[in-house]
Parts: sequence; structure tokens; C-alpha cells
Amino acid sequence: MARQSILLTRRLPPQVEARARASYDVIDNPDDRILTPQELRERAHNGKVAALLVCTSEKVDEALLAQLPDSLKAVATFSVGYDHIDVAACKARGIMATNTPDVLTDSTADIAMLLLLGAARRAYEGDRLVRAGEWKGWHTMMLLGVQPGGKRLGIFGMGRIGQAVAQRARAFGMRIHYHNRSRLAPELEAGAEYHASPESLLRVSDFLCLNAPSSPATRGFLNSERIALLPEGAIVVNTARGDLVVDDDLIAALQSGRVRAAGLDVFANEPALHPGYAGLPNTLLLPHLGSATIETRDAMGFTALDNIDAVLAGRAAPNPLW
Ligand code: 8YV
Repeated sequence: MARQSILLTRRLPPQVEARARASYDVIDNPDDRILTPQELRERAHNGKVAALLVCTSEKVDEALLAQLPDSLKAVATFSVGYDHIDVAACKARGIMATNTPDVLTDSTADIAMLLLLGAARRAYEGDRLVRAGEWKGWHTMMLLGVQPGGKRLGIFGMGRIGQAVAQRARAFGMRIHYHNRSRLAPELEAGAEYHASPESLLRVSDFLCLNAPSSPATRGFLNSERIALLPEGAIVVNTARGDLVVDDDLIAALQSGRVRAAGLDVFANEPALHPGYAGLPNTLLLPHLGSATIETRDAMGFTALDNIDAVLAGRAAPNPLW
């Protein structure tokens, strides 16, 4: 039987690409350029592809799906987030959509803690001071931060990653509060205090960690009205999606000190983030590194391929989105 063809929209870790090539005719993207919808369409048609392995850099919307060949059976994203995929439109066309949950939980929670600690302890300012040769010597009031231990951590979105952040933060002596669409079972709560409304959560969040997916309900969540509910000098961490935050509002709060510091790994319109962030000393900025470990990126690629293998073999996908 002829081998099926799959389209990898971006470069993937070498072992992942090797496994893909061992099983399929692969149409790849050696330059790792973000392909236009027109290029995606042409490549998919030329190869009569059975599956697309996409990243968050590709928008798989109704308009694109309508132009893809009938041979297409699966859209597998190399991510847990799937706000770039119109799942309903995939379903309407009988195309299975899948994601890569679980395998990036730990790495993303680690980055959230790095940002939380880095923002609280002024890591960016310290690093800059040393590199700029401006460190004139130790003194008792130099770059004083705040201590996470004993503080309240508000987690907005208590899914897998939110729970993994809670587990880590407990080890730092933080008290965990959360808001989620539904309350967790007691064994998953592990003593965390549930808030039925986000507003109630914000009022107790000395530290606020955003861990909810981007959706019509969460976009623009952290605006000036909600920032005003936070305790004075709260610290904000975002490893979820940039569009949960109204950038102008957070930047104004960071400038005034109403929000003491922020640690951000995700931005609206990446990589062209709001220019106001770059000049803020009290903000630790990372270029979407949440899942960027060797182990996790391999596991994400293998999970995406597991999903494609299952769909193309007529089996149930391990991580179906519909
Ligand atoms: C991905 C992410 O690595 O999985 C997600 O939803 O945001 C990241 O961890 C990145 O978006 C690549 O697709």
C-alpha cells in the first residue's frame, strides 16, 4: 500500500522528524519559515496530505480548512493550547483535531515558578546590573524583592498546569487559592481554597498566576478593573496566552507600581509584543519558553505523531479535541 503523506508545518526535533519519515512521506519546511495559508494549501494539495502537524504559529480556521484536500484526516497540533484551531470546523468536515496535553505540564509549571521567583526577587534587574558593570558592591538595601513564602498565590485556571504550579508553590510555603470553571475534587485541591468567581480570587492574590486557555470567556481577562481588585503590589505571572491580558492596562499598573512586578512568557501578537514591556525594569520577559526543554519537545512531537498514527490507522486518537 502506498505510504500516506503528512505535512510538518515547522521544523521539529530531529528524533521526531526521523520517526515521521520512517512512517510517512513527509512534506517538511526546512527553512522553518511561517507558511502563508496559500503555501499551506499548495503543499497540502501537492502531497495529497492525510495529516497536518501544526504549531501555534499556524491558524487552522474555516477558510483554510475549506481549501485543504479531501485526503486530509487529521490536524495534530504540537501544543496543548488549541485556540489557533477551529475545532468545530474540523469536526464539521470529519477531520480529527488533536493536541499534546500532559507532556508539557511539568516544564510549563517550572517556567511559571521561574517567572514567579524571578519577578519577586528582581532577577532581571540583578542580571542587568551585573552585565552592565553597574554593580558597585553589596549593600543591605540593594534590589530588595518580596518573599513568596506565606503569601497567597491565586491560580486562574486550575487544570493540569495550574495544579502543577500549585504543587511547586506549596513547596515554597505559598498558600494556594484558585478559580476554575468547576471546583476540583478534594484530592486534587490538596487544601487549595476555591473561589467561585474570578473577582473573589483576585482580591486575595498577592501573586496571580494565569493558567487558563485562551477562549472568548478569558480573552482580555486581566484589565484595569480586575487589576484594581488585586492587593496593592501584587505580582502577575502569565504562561498561558498573552491575550488573557490587556497589555496597556498591565503596563500602566507596572509603571505606577500598583502591580509590583510581572513575569511573562506569552504575549498577544507574538513575537511582536507590546513595545511598552521592554522598557519596564520590574518585568521578567521570556520568549514563550514554557515547553522548551529537550525532553518535553521530543514528547510533544511523539504525542502528535501518536495521534496522527491512530487516526490514519482508523483507531481512536489518544488526545482528541472533539
Ligand atoms: C508550545 C504552548 O510549545 O503547548 C502550548 O499551548 O503554548 C507551548 O508550550 C508552543 O506554542 C509551540 O506550539
